[in-house]
Amino acid sequence: MRIGVPKEIKNNENRVALTPGGVITLLKNGHTVYVETTAGINSGFTDDDYIQAGAQILATAKEVFDTADMIMKVKEPIAQEYGLIRPDQLVFTYFHFASDETLTRAMIDSKAVCLAYETVEINNTLPLLIPMSEVAGRMSIQEGAKYLEKPKGGKGILLGGVPGVKPANVLVLGGGVVGTQAALMAAGLGAHVTIMDISLPRLRYLSEIMPANVDTVMSSQYNIEQMLPHTDLVIGAVLIPGAKAPHLITRYMLKLMQPGSVLVDVAIDQGGCFETSKPTTHATPVYQVDGIQHYCVANIPGAVPFTSTLALTNATLPYAVKLANLGWEKACEQYPDLEKGLNIVKGKVVCQAVAETFGL
Ligand SMILES: NC(=O)c1ccc[n+]([C@@H]2O[C@H](COP(=O)([O-])OP(=O)(O)OC[C@H]3O[C@@H](n4cnc5c(N)ncnc54)[C@H](O)[C@@H]3O)[C@@H](O)[C@H]2O)c1
Repeated sequence: MRIGVPKEIKNNENRVALTPGGVITLLKNGHTVYVETTAGINSGFTDDDYIQAGAQILATAKEVFDTADMIMKVKEPIAQEYGLIRPDQLVFTYFHFASDETLTRAMIDSKAVCLAYETVEINNTLPLLIPMSEVAGRMSIQEGAKYLEKPKGGKGILLGGVPGVKPANVLVLGGGVVGTQAALMAAGLGAHVTIMDISLPRLRYLSEIMPANVDTVMSSQYNIEQMLPHTDLVIGAVLIPGAKAPHLITRYMLKLMQPGSVLVDVAIDQGGCFETSKPTTHATPVYQVDGIQHYCVANIPGAVPFTSTLALTNATLPYAVKLANLGWEKACEQYPDLEKGLNIVKGKVVCQAVAETFGL
């Protein structure tokens, strides 16, 4: 199969869908790989790296789309890419159709086969979303620590404290993938960490695996209000699949916190779990409400493409190999996890949630 990797052109997107290592794997399986020039540069891979791996470099996105049977991308196609996609072409990327009707209708019109990373599902988990949650969870502490610093508008406290001085208190709301990684990072830096979740089995599991400076507490409004006066950094990491995130910290609750404390709302891509959250970008990541710092970047992994590209492609490559070896129809027949990724096939919406969202 001919596999094409265009350069990502969405604002501030620095990842690439395939590494030179991935090129070697696909070539070993008998395929040809075409990469748009400089596609990997912001993730640390030069055109020469791809050439040495055996890929062919093409000068424009149009040439890549014209040549390939399967397109591998990171983000959903944006308007200037719509017209490049060919009927029957397989496009394997994040689509997030439910949040974008224009994209959905453009992909229906393209008659392409759209296989979405975010709906590939195995054993009730989303294997192509987990790596980005891991990155975002770890980053949330790095960013939270930074915005706790006085020159950055924070109260001016070091997460780990020093000998003779107490560490900062970190509250993690939601003990899933993001919350677990956030808690581990904060604990590793020496902070005192509390994880809240509404799932008792999850809290049981976390209390077994977490280090001694991490407590687990059942999530409730009462318990959150009790914690806020002593909390320096809150990480919002809740998810109710398919629903808007609940507002666990409302505006009046900000008054319970000390000025310069920091809220990092990782769940902002689902609407945010603090009432005062609104999406921000890496260019202007924070703003203050009632003296409390809010960090609400919707694509946190975009800031660390060297890490995020590898984390993403570690997860996507095995699926790409199956698709290339078998073709999408046989691969989806054999692997139900991949079949769940099918969202639009040759003009027809085949994902129930997307169809319901737009009445299609
Ligand atoms: N901003 C970004 O760049 C970025 C990147 C990756 C993921 N995310 C988002 O982060 C959020 C968390 O993702 P995840 O992969 O950790 O999800 P997950 O499903 O692994 O974990 C969510 C956890 O929240 C818990 N929860 C639900 N309601 C709760 C409540 N009221 N109080 C406390 N806990 C509650 C669930 O029991 C679960 O353990 C999602 O919205 C995801 O889209 C954002």
